[in-house]
Amino acid sequence: MRMSDLIQKKRDGGVLDRREIRWMIEGYTAGTIPDYQMSAMCMAIFYQGMDIQETYELTMAMLDSGDRIDLSGISGVKADKHSTGGVGDKTSLLLCPMVACCGVKLAKLSGRGLGHTGGTIDKLESFPGFSTAIAEDAFIRQVNEVGFAIAGQTAQLCPADKKLYALRDVTATVASRPLIVSSILCKKLAAGADVIVLDVKTGSGAFMQREEDAFDLARTLTEVGRMAGRKVVAVVTDMDEPLGNAVGNALEVKEALAALRGEYRGDLLELCLTLGTQILREGGVASDDASAREMLERTISSGAALERFAAFVRAQGGDASAVYDPSLLPQAPVTAEAPAPAGGYVGRIHAEDVGLVSMHLGGGRAAKDDDIDLAVGVVLKKKVGDAVAAGESLGTVHARTEEAARRGADMLRACFEIVPEKVTRSPFIKGVVRGE
Ligand code: URA
Repeated sequence: MRMSDLIQKKRDGGVLDRREIRWMIEGYTAGTIPDYQMSAMCMAIFYQGMDIQETYELTMAMLDSGDRIDLSGISGVKADKHSTGGVGDKTSLLLCPMVACCGVKLAKLSGRGLGHTGGTIDKLESFPGFSTAIAEDAFIRQVNEVGFAIAGQTAQLCPADKKLYALRDVTATVASRPLIVSSILCKKLAAGADVIVLDVKTGSGAFMQREEDAFDLARTLTEVGRMAGRKVVAVVTDMDEPLGNAVGNALEVKEALAALRGEYRGDLLELCLTLGTQILREGGVASDDASAREMLERTISSGAALERFAAFVRAQGGDASAVYDPSLLPQAPVTAEAPAPAGGYVGRIHAEDVGLVSMHLGGGRAAKDDDIDLAVGVVLKKKVGDAVAAGESLGTVHARTEEAARRGADMLRACFEIVPEKVTRSPFIKGVVRGE
């Protein structure tokens, strides 16, 4: 087989078969197919697409490029959740304890990640002593005992995806449906859960800016998941503004804790209730949406989810005092308000730009070994649709220095569009897609 022939076949709209896809992924992972040929293939796929069978074969070939996690030692239904990315996304911190209290286990692998804030692991390191470097047997034991665990990835999962994603990032081929589907699903399949719930973002800050593209992506994800023998549900959600109000590591933990105490009702909680409902239904512990929601709401009103979160922090070596007293979390020494330049209504908040404020303050990473400041970030006081008076604060910047705070506040102000007329927010949850 020759890679140039496969590139030509895809360039001209042909369909690659299982043997060709496997040969290509094995060769690329082993280094016998060079980046320049794989780049050309990614661009051909970007323009010509792949049918559902090709997308499935690509996913499975990428899955088989590395290890799989064996979750057979965990009793009951195992679920996993993935988001296609969002500014202020602290969903796992809230969703995992809620779902675990309802009897579905979550064995999550998480990353540090590049971007506006750290990944879930960085956020959790706001608790002194907390560690995600857990041996596999301790990980399994914890999931059985506490109901969930979040570990850093140690096994070599999907090395093909690691290489391919880095290549796509620099060849303008990230936003391709078959490439996104295979990339997300190979990792989720390798992580071993029976039920996989995906939060597919749409809107200005998402890969799929148009709603119909996000639904197409959701349908392909659920279909390929079904072909691979797993229950996959995708929830399409709006990403035209940050999720919740906090963007920044410890600030996001604080917001998640407020939600677990029942002191927050907004898009973040709505997302967790929607994702959790799908997990409970697919996991067979609730028969309809209404009873699933009620079970999940009860984990908060009873205090059970907060207790479960504290047990999780302790199980992973962390000091859980801050679960009950969030003032013990890392705090930035300086704060500054971002006043509205005019009165009116918040028409838009550019989510990506709010992320850049957090980056500017030191809350995110541009390169994988960069240090991260857990204390800094932004807390929005206004969301889309809210009325605002001239000079009223749009949000608070938490910074290391006066200078960073001043600049951060200017940047934050520029993220907001204030309009004179009342704004109606479009629904945050756009729809749920199940593999049929
Ligand atoms: N997330 C992934 O892991 N891969 C993609 O291609 C897009 C989002």
